[in-house]
Amino acid sequence: MKEQPIGIFDSGVGGLTVAHAIKQILPGENLVYFGDTAHLPYGDKSADSIRSYSRRITEFLLENNSKVVLVACNSASSSAFDSLQKEFGGRTIMIDVIDPVVEYLRTRNFSKIGVIGTKRTISSGTYEKKVKESSPATGVVSLATPLLVPMIEEGFIYDDISNAIIRTYLSDSSLSGIEALVLGCTHYPIIKNQINKFFNFNVEVIDSARIVSSLLRDTLEKNNLLNNSLKVRDQFFVSDYTTYFEKIARMFFEAEINLKKADIWG
Ligand code: DGL
Repeated sequence: MKEQPIGIFDSGVGGLTVAHAIKQILPGENLVYFGDTAHLPYGDKSADSIRSYSRRITEFLLENNSKVVLVACNSASSSAFDSLQKEFGGRTIMIDVIDPVVEYLRTRNFSKIGVIGTKRTISSGTYEKKVKESSPATGVVSLATPLLVPMIEEGFIYDDISNAIIRTYLSDSSLSGIEALVLGCTHYPIIKNQINKFFNFNVEVIDSARIVSSLLRDTLEKNNLLNNSLKVRDQFFVSDYTTYFEKIARMFFEAEINLKKADIWG
């Protein structure tokens, strides 16, 4: 059981920021990653489509023996996690990227926070609803920032284009007075430094990758499933393959990576 891999999925390569954070604190774990590049971006898809993609990917990760399935995508966590939990929760441990952040916010007692994410995540209202339930004194403003994913994927990160886009979004008057900003998309940790700089480091920028990997470590420990192996084998699958994706994947994972195409829709 311990040697079984941790299954992780995202619409594409964004979840690799979570996979990278997991490798930092759990180097002895095997990973099996699935990036649904054929259906990218999820941020513009309907909740129904995201639910049906996520369901098939979870099956694929279970066919690959995952001891845990981690939904490393906010768009899928907001639209599909409840149904995945219902269907697969009895067979495996399911973790999303929103609930652990909501729990972290409960311990911090902020009076006003901002959330940025894809159109799907923001229009679902998931963060507002969950934070309202668990931290009623915390006000939440959310803002869809749909240009950030294509901007990052095109490699605009430390330049005039990215600075202008980040500045334009984060100058939105609704965000004035926030004490923390939740990065509600797994692509955004890539531009965390620029966001910190925009706020002159006066706003806590909350990165779900770190919070989720600590929760994963605690969950594995509690279930006696921690693997401290010295010989690990990580596998990375995508539903559509181009050398271009392999290049961006390296940027997200911060290491050499070998993507394989898995045709799970056929
Ligand atoms: N990484 C995905 C998320 O966390 C967003 C990318 C997409 O739109 O597919 O929501």
